[in-house]
Amino acid sequence: MTPRSIHSTILPRERAFLVGVEIRGEPALLPLEDSLVELALLADTAGLEVVGQITQKVEHPHVETYIGPGKLEELKALVEETQAQVVVFDNELSPRHLRELEKALGEHVRVLDRTALILDIFAQHAHTREGILQVKLAQYEYYLPRLTRRWTHLARQAGGAAGRGGIGGVGLRGPGETQLEVDRRVIRREIAHLKRELERVRAHRMRYRAQRRRARIPVIALAGYTNAGKSTLLNRLARADVYVADQLFATLDPTTRRVELPGGHWVLFTDTVGFIQKLPTTLVAAFRATLEEIAEADLILHVVDISHPNALAQYQAVQQTLEEIGAGHIPVITALNKIDRLEQSPEAIREKLRLYPSAVGISALKGWGIETLLQRIQETLFETMTPICVRLPYQQGNLISLFHEMGQVERIEHMRGGMLIQGRLPGRLLAQFAPWKVDESIPEEVHEA
Ligand code: GTP
Repeated sequence: MTPRSIHSTILPRERAFLVGVEIRGEPALLPLEDSLVELALLADTAGLEVVGQITQKVEHPHVETYIGPGKLEELKALVEETQAQVVVFDNELSPRHLRELEKALGEHVRVLDRTALILDIFAQHAHTREGILQVKLAQYEYYLPRLTRRWTHLARQAGGAAGRGGIGGVGLRGPGETQLEVDRRVIRREIAHLKRELERVRAHRMRYRAQRRRARIPVIALAGYTNAGKSTLLNRLARADVYVADQLFATLDPTTRRVELPGGHWVLFTDTVGFIQKLPTTLVAAFRATLEEIAEADLILHVVDISHPNALAQYQAVQQTLEEIGAGHIPVITALNKIDRLEQSPEAIREKLRLYPSAVGISALKGWGIETLLQRIQETLFETMTPICVRLPYQQGNLISLFHEMGQVERIEHMRGGMLIQGRLPGRLLAQFAPWKVDESIPEEVHEA
């Protein structure tokens, strides 16, 4: 078994029935129907065959079974009729909901929620050491409170994966321990082991990153909603052969390519994991590797599928996540991709593009607008000087000299422990100086402190 297949709990072409519930008064990014379309695409990406769906609008989720008793009966009948083996809820289910639903639907039907589905897709697609470890960790953390007897195979795999095959077996139970307790113990130990392993792999990656920073090649992170076309754009830019597929989450690990801009400067483009609505916080944490790439970039290239009916909502969801992961201070250029698919008049298209700040219309597939995009990147990183005021401690001597070397210094004031520099910096350095930024209108007494 490869590490990738170990943690996929879905078998190919299992028959899946989808359930979508709208809770009145709860803010939702997408209308119920659109969210289910996305869920169906996720199910397809995970290898499931979608055989039907039902929806319900309620005031509150039912305490035991999430959907009301009437709807549950309807679901049972439909599951039987379509011979579905898996029921996938679009909403995140509590451990109790999961248990009660599995009990109600019978032992031949497994119940998953959107999170479990995304985790499974992540498990199938992660391919770097760090990616695989992160997915396993996220899966164990997700399943630990949700273990039912049906999930005990996970614990056995945990034991097996760490070279302790059979630890979940009855013979190794402690006095008075049930099988579930043994499983929980094994999984907790595996979680601790994975965390230690991840720290080691991360420390290694950070050393490489430090070297890259020293080389001062600006890093541009491609961010965007899943399926927006990031990999296609990276291929176009670097003529690189990054895996492209019309599936969600084809890319799960950062992939970096070196590209020459029109002005002769070299930059690094790095592809990142696609964003998606309802991406649970546990997953955002699990994907720190790709997200960290974004938070440390010099520029973010936000790729949007402008031909998607929910393009603006997707754009806003990504911008919000960027803020949440601490990347809000990094300059952003928006690439509105797939313009070859737009059938409106040029004027209507221009109107549409105006909704997005600092945007360039492109088609990564056809190669349209790529020169303009590169030109815009060149200008933002190297030609436009942005006003900034920073308060740098003397220990940051390298940044003080970098400001003098690359920027335009307009005012310097010495303070206790450091100096205040006001001036202008090229875009590629703004992110590096962001932690030291101060409001330019600071009163004199603060300067002189
Ligand atoms: P994730 O890995 O899910 O984050 O996706 P991604 O953003 O890397 O998207 P990817 O490059 O894999 O492209 C998704 C699909 O969109 C593929 O089928 C591409 O061929 C298609 N696509 C990408 N760019 C364009 C474009 O400019 N025009 C059209 N028509 N299709 C495009």
